[in-house]
Amino acid sequence: MRVAVVGATGEVGRTMVRVLEEQGVRPDELRLFASARSAGTSLSFCGNSCTVEELGTKVLKEGFDYLLFSAGSNVSKQYASIAAEAGSVVIDNSSAFRMTPDIPLVVPEINGDLLRGYRGIVANPNCSTIQMVLGLYEIHRRFGIKSIVVSTYQSVSGAGKNGINELESQISGHVEPKKFVRQIHLNVIPQIGAILENGFSEEEIKMVDETHKILQDDSIGIWATTVRVPVLYGHSETIWVETRKPASLDEVRKAIEASENVELTDQVISPLDGAGTDLVYVSRLRAFDDTRFLMWNVADNIRVGAATNAVRILKKHRALNARSFE
Ligand SMILES: NC(=O)c1ccc[n+]([C@@H]2O[C@H](COP(=O)([O-])OP(=O)(O)OC[C@H]3O[C@@H](n4cnc5c(N)ncnc54)[C@H](OP(=O)(O)O)[C@@H]3O)[C@@H](O)[C@H]2O)c1
Repeated sequence: MRVAVVGATGEVGRTMVRVLEEQGVRPDELRLFASARSAGTSLSFCGNSCTVEELGTKVLKEGFDYLLFSAGSNVSKQYASIAAEAGSVVIDNSSAFRMTPDIPLVVPEINGDLLRGYRGIVANPNCSTIQMVLGLYEIHRRFGIKSIVVSTYQSVSGAGKNGINELESQISGHVEPKKFVRQIHLNVIPQIGAILENGFSEEEIKMVDETHKILQDDSIGIWATTVRVPVLYGHSETIWVETRKPASLDEVRKAIEASENVELTDQVISPLDGAGTDLVYVSRLRAFDDTRFLMWNVADNIRVGAATNAVRILKKHRALNARSFE
């Protein structure tokens, strides 16, 4: 099996390499690509040193079994189709193809079956969407979700290595905001992505559109407020959910407990507790009445929200198709 990571030196790309190793994916060949800036540097995979190469069209035409793209939407728009045309399955972390109708937007625990018999580009959803739908899917399956009101508390690593650098440089005294619209150190910023004509931000609309596509239900009312907070790793969300069928708090609790890769806990869970893990943590579960519930949801945005979901897509695709494609 030939696997490559595009954007391998970024926050998500480096974690993809680590998660491939942790999850027991052992390609015969692993290639790492980034821009000319970091070509020649190296990363470790299963005890071997892998040199990062500059991305180019020629190598993509060789074809890989799986190409994990994590270098931003411009790179994906320029190169992902070339790789897919060469027969590679491209798992793309950017927003470039998420809402393209024929491209599956996959959270394997929810709609992994879309990968059966599929070749081409597979889109990985936005980090804040993945952790929310993982925490809500089983409630939706059992009781139907009518509406969601969500507020996020998103870490600076969600904006990549430049986001982390900006917080760290402000902690050590350099204040001018560049990556974020306001100073992030000692602050919170209620805007992620540009503000659109309807008043919502790009990140808020991603949560709406992507949730509709993953759950295949455009009738769910979704209202999001996305906020950047001075946390390095781990996004948190307060979620208010309204079900179509009535449910007791205990039934909702059981639904969350039955969710794959989700842990329901009565402990206080902060982003520091979730960082470095592959689980979504749901806590502070409360009932308003028999259709309206509140909860706190935490996950590592780089892992659950990006790298781990991408590796889970690879493994699911492999499990569903390996024989038919070999
Ligand atoms: N961070 C998150 O929580 C998160 C979650 C979900 C999805 N994503 C998405 O994942 C992608 C990467 O995010 P990130 O946080 O890892 O960003 P990042 O830390 O800024 O890393 C960007 C990566 O892309 C590479 N790159 C940039 N321009 C390139 C080019 N022209 N050709 C080849 N490689 C290029 C960089 O290589 P150099 O080292 O050479 O600059 C680096 O490896 C983005 O599309 C982002 O929206 C991120």
